Amino acid sequence: MYRLGVLISGRGSNFHSILKSVNSGFITNAEIVVVISNKEDAKGLNIAKENRIDAVFINPKDLSRQDYDKIVADTLIKYRVDFVILAGFMRILSSEFIKTFENRIVNIHPALLPSFRGLHAQRQALEKGVKFSGATVHFVTNELDDGPIVVQSVVPVMDNDTEDSLSKRILKTEHRIYPLAVKLITENRIKIEKNRVICDTEGLDDEFYALNPKEFGR
Ligand code: GAR
Repeated sequence: MYRLGVLISGRGSNFHSILKSVNSGFITNAEIVVVISNKEDAKGLNIAKENRIDAVFINPKDLSRQDYDKIVADTLIKYRVDFVILAGFMRILSSEFIKTFENRIVNIHPALLPSFRGLHAQRQALEKGVKFSGATVHFVTNELDDGPIVVQSVVPVMDNDTEDSLSKRILKTEHRIYPLAVKLITENRIKIEKNRVICDTEGLDDEFYALNPKEFGR
């Protein structure tokens, strides 16, 4: 059973969707052992506490990025975490942290990467006038919002969309693809070859094929 550490900065709805998938048995081979936030008032910390998961606020005040990340890494190591799940964690990680958990950090981004990296991805999509956007779960490398892609979802952008309405549409799909990505990774179905994630789909059911239709040849 793999041990997951989740890093958040706010609402924690992606963390919650993964937790629900662990509890429902959709994620079969992992448990969430700790949730860490850089914001004391992050709502996600309450969700953790309500579910009897250790919730840790680590204050970044007066700390360099390296020192802060070292404390976070030491905490994750103390909890014997196998995978680090970034779920709305709004800090850039140091290269030391990324090296410590090489190929074991995943992130979700509210756009179809490599488009619209960085902050306000939904606003960037509206400003560019794209007709489709979506969400991406990817392994974390030293490049911001880069790294091998595990799962993506696509949503249409409507003429009357606001940043808020588009964000809501994307978030709904985030709550489907993040648990799916965590399931695939923790069932050891994933291989990284150069920059590509190759997935063993043997025995996967409708949830997987809803996102990766069979007619596309998977
Ligand atoms: C999500 O939309 C996630 O994709 C985004 O922050 C939100 C967190 O929501 N992450 C990023 O923009 C990272 N670059 P949540 O706290 O409810 O999961």
